[in-house]
Amino acid sequence: MKNIDSRSHVRGESIYVNDIPVREDTLFGVVLGSPCAHGKLHKIDFSEALKMAGVEAVISAKDIPGENQIGSIIQDEELFADKEVHYVGMPIAMVCAKTEALARKALAKIKIDIEELRPILTAREAHAEKKFICPSRTFRIGDTDAMWEKCAHIIEGQAEMGGQEHIYLETQGAYAYMLEAGAIKIHSSTQATKYVQKGVSRVLGIPMHKIEVDVNRIGGGFGGKEDQATPWGAMAALAAYTLRKPLKLILSRIDDFTMTGKRHPYSFDFKLGLNRDLQILCYQMEAFQNAGAAADVSPAVMERTLFHGTGSYHVPNAKITCHSCKTNLPPNTAMRGFGAPQAMFVFEAAIMKAAATLNVAPLEIQRKNLLREGDRFPYEQIAKNCNAGKCWDSAYEKFAVEKLKKEIAAFNKKNIHCKKGLSLFPLCFGISFTKTSLNQGRSLVHINTDGSVSITTGVVEMGQGVNTKILQVAAKTLSISPQRFTIHSTNTTRIANPSPTAASTGADLNGKATIMACEALRARLKGVALQELKGRDPDEIEIKDEIIFHNGSKTDLTWERLVFLTDEARISLSEHAHYATPVIHFDKASEKGHPFAYHVYGTAVTAVTVDCLRGTYEIDLVKVVHDFGSSINLDIDIGQAEGALMQGIGLMTIEELLVDQKGKHIYDRLASYKIPDIYFAPKNVEVVPLDSEPDALALLGSKAVGEPPLMYGIGSYFAILMAMREFNPTLKLDLWAPLTHQKCLLALYDKYGDLLK
Ligand code: MTE
Ligand code: HPA
Ligand code: MOS
Repeated sequence: MKNIDSRSHVRGESIYVNDIPVREDTLFGVVLGSPCAHGKLHKIDFSEALKMAGVEAVISAKDIPGENQIGSIIQDEELFADKEVHYVGMPIAMVCAKTEALARKALAKIKIDIEELRPILTAREAHAEKKFICPSRTFRIGDTDAMWEKCAHIIEGQAEMGGQEHIYLETQGAYAYMLEAGAIKIHSSTQATKYVQKGVSRVLGIPMHKIEVDVNRIGGGFGGKEDQATPWGAMAALAAYTLRKPLKLILSRIDDFTMTGKRHPYSFDFKLGLNRDLQILCYQMEAFQNAGAAADVSPAVMERTLFHGTGSYHVPNAKITCHSCKTNLPPNTAMRGFGAPQAMFVFEAAIMKAAATLNVAPLEIQRKNLLREGDRFPYEQIAKNCNAGKCWDSAYEKFAVEKLKKEIAAFNKKNIHCKKGLSLFPLCFGISFTKTSLNQGRSLVHINTDGSVSITTGVVEMGQGVNTKILQVAAKTLSISPQRFTIHSTNTTRIANPSPTAASTGADLNGKATIMACEALRARLKGVALQELKGRDPDEIEIKDEIIFHNGSKTDLTWERLVFLTDEARISLSEHAHYATPVIHFDKASEKGHPFAYHVYGTAVTAVTVDCLRGTYEIDLVKVVHDFGSSINLDIDIGQAEGALMQGIGLMTIEELLVDQKGKHIYDRLASYKIPDIYFAPKNVEVVPLDSEPDALALLGSKAVGEPPLMYGIGSYFAILMAMREFNPTLKLDLWAPLTHQKCLLALYDKYGDLLK
């Protein structure tokens, strides 16, 4: 089935927040962000701005009737800075004017008096000064201390990984207006209607039932709108509520870039121990997460780093620690992979360094230590239906890796300045929110009296095609035509308390709830059909492709007539269902449990060519065997895999976030922050589904796909590194992702150390 959004997307008819026709008297907001990363706010003078015709108000902390607090996990984040600023771009006030251009002009007239304080910009600095977001945590398995002396080889090192900007096409925004009786409605570009509703409730000091949050769809979120859509919703609501006029706030790309958090940069120390046969005996890793100036979801991201500390490998003795360090950057937040890419990168970096030190191919160490069925993760869960080896071997064979190796060796022998490199990257990603309580989904299904069906779930469509999947499973369960369905906007008055659409769980949780609702309705309809057809046992009735069968024979009863009769009999044609993932649990005190419904596996083969005179590279091919389970929509799933792969390649190669010494982003727009484009894309991409057992906890056996394939991008980093080593065999391996062309060039000529200073 085609993605149900494709037609309106292509025709430009899809509706996002900024496409909603505005009401009369609508005001437009522009946010004033802090010009410095750390400082005391002594005075703000709005008087000149307020003198301008068409400027209605400048709102700030003092206008908040409720709490000036939007922190979700930890209460440490103000909506508007009150006495201190903690990062460049931290919101201080919002100008509300008749047009956005006017608001921007007025904003330039605001005078602020800030006493600058020294900012902390790196996680290691914050760690040294004991500035933490939350207590550090450690996952352990076996006994690392006792094992080191049994290791034949011990490799130690450090690694650094930069952050990543989400670059959703639709920037953050919200449109808010008053309804009657003090109620307020907010159209928000959010992955989490509940979080916006809750944030508005706190800021305005009114109960949640007075607040309706609606999301038709969003133009990408990638995690950036899980927690961080809340402030803009709250600001728009605050203006609408205090000024009693509708207000629209849409961030410009540069404001969005400056004011919102990104993927967390991490710094690592690692130590890897192997025996003579290259078996991994022991791994110790300490991660320093750069959380930015407030908690946001950093404690949860840190948790996922710990869960994925050993990647796709069996490690009998491991000690993995993570520190969430508080710095003066915008609060870093959820982004596709959610702390896992960082953990997997450092593990691969350790293997790479071991392989270089021992003069073996990384592939040898990787294959030998892949997870097998029944292996225990450091958090106690056992690897079940483990497809790590299957994916690897299948990729190795399908993509003729032996032949590829020979071709690359021949190329490298012939060429002096151009070198090719090859890598394999094994993936193992846990599916479920690591916080067990978030693993619940809901669905509300109405059959209308004309036989058409209206569905609302807790899930937000953000381009991942989840609404298409919801529609597919509903049509399949009711066994009626997909044409009969509409999937409606995600709305807090129809579905209350939804978990954010995140952790790749949207389809599983809300799809399963939809199946439950449709099954309940089908049972009711069958009961009515049984009466009408004068049968005895509900099992005599079957509804298939809109035809009602009795004892296996076609009847004259139509779907429409059956729906009509059900309503006539005063039997409800509506159902609200709730699904909670069974089995999962986790105990934080012991750091043990069974947190994931299942794992997703895969292997990526990547080949690159590096121009060693220029430090530039091209990605020749990425070929992947991926464990989709039994996909219900392979077109959508392969689209997700390819998109995630590109985003992962960008993360590891050209997407570089740099701040100056004062904590200001140097690259703050798409002209300077480069994301992969069609020219940078691999010349050859192939994603092949693995034949695997369908997992009962996946939606009709179709495994979650949103985040896992992002991590295949890690393969590109190591393929480039392999090519670089062909040119410079003494290449220093404590490198720093992303491996930009500039860094590649400097490293090839041993100038990399200068860059680190
Ligand atoms: N695909 C598109 N096109 N746009 C997005 O913003 N977000 C990703 C992924 N795929 C995203 C996307 C992230 S971070 C997640 S967690 C999942 O989609 C969420 O949707 P799902 O749970 O329905 O897979
Ligand atoms: N993944 C993604 N988003 C989340 C998670 C998670 O495990 N927990 C809370 N938000
Ligand atoms: Mo995705 S980072 O869980 O929104």
